[in-house]
Amino acid sequence: MDFVKEFLKKADAGNLRRKLRPVAPVSARECIVDGRKCIDFSSNNYLALSDHPKLKEAAVRWTNLYGAGSKGSRLVTGTFPPYMELERKIAAWKGSEASLVIGSGFLANIGAISAVADRDSAIFADKLNHASLNSGAQLSGAGFRRYRHLDLKHLEALMHNDSPSRRIIISDTVFSMDGDLADVQALKKISHEHGAMLYLDDAHATGVFGCKGEGLASGAGGLDISMGTFSKAMGSYGAYVACSEEMKEYLVNRCGTFVFSTALPPAAYGAIDAAVDLVQSQEYCEIRRNLLVKSAKLAEEIRWIGFDTGNTATPIIPVIAGDPEKVLRISRNLLEKGMLVVAIRPPTVPKGSARLRLSLNSAHTDSDISRLLEALEENL
Ligand SMILES: Cc1ncc(COP(=O)(O)O)c(C=O)c1O
Repeated sequence: MDFVKEFLKKADAGNLRRKLRPVAPVSARECIVDGRKCIDFSSNNYLALSDHPKLKEAAVRWTNLYGAGSKGSRLVTGTFPPYMELERKIAAWKGSEASLVIGSGFLANIGAISAVADRDSAIFADKLNHASLNSGAQLSGAGFRRYRHLDLKHLEALMHNDSPSRRIIISDTVFSMDGDLADVQALKKISHEHGAMLYLDDAHATGVFGCKGEGLASGAGGLDISMGTFSKAMGSYGAYVACSEEMKEYLVNRCGTFVFSTALPPAAYGAIDAAVDLVQSQEYCEIRRNLLVKSAKLAEEIRWIGFDTGNTATPIIPVIAGDPEKVLRISRNLLEKGMLVVAIRPPTVPKGSARLRLSLNSAHTDSDISRLLEALEENL
């Protein structure tokens, strides 16, 4: 067991040890930490849907109708017709021919990427892509080339030097620790010009961007794939892959995390169904717009105080302080003042860029934001 002790000791020495902390949710806005009510600035619940009555009601209704569990993989026990109906609804929302629901975003990425790439393929990936995309690439055994964050000239240079029969460009659309955006149109153009497949992860854009909350990577067709999760702005759990009918058929046969894993429980499908309807409504179009305006204003005000917030264009606002010890100290100080803001340290982010990852949701009030700004100013 020496390797365990050694790992933990080293993590402690670098202020890099992670600990599970009891946090009880109260609402999208608040939670209880150490017996005290805090404003929650740590979640991915951007539209505050996790406790929306319609999602909760649908989860209970679908449980009462179809049971607590799905009883097996959909290929083994069959697919409840409402699941198929929901996949058609997701495809229409995403502007793709088809969609496939998979257990979680992590499972979708490792399963779908290892299904479409093999040892004879080359994957070209943004350096700041989410860990699940990198895990999928590693699992596939494909050649793995990483381009500098958002540097599409570097991507093209790598592609010129490397021409195996199958090439796949993989990128987040919203980068989860920086809140900045990939240039989806430029990625589409490059993939088209180089005859490469494009795989986009729309996890943090789903629900937050697009006229109907469909995200930034809509309209995947041909061999292209866009995926996203229902676990963030969509308020519950699970993931989708949006693609052509043919690609869906392929994934049903080849995506290991779909084939060999039990389907989501009916409660999750019910909550997903309710969320997909809600985010397309006029009400949520307004909520989305207000959230983005509020987020841009907060980022600007934090920059004005003197912190580096990178290039965020989303409700994810990094407050980059560099040193893990400093970030932990600010996070502790904020907690003392009744605000939960999580400290993100290497290896989740590159060395030297430890940060607070602040995330705003539509339930936060102006007074929550003023309190946060005041507390940050004291910690500069
Ligand atoms: C960009 C991105 N992709 C995929 C995932 C995984 O999604 P899930 O939490 O549904 O497994 C995450 C989760 O943090 C993410 O940030």
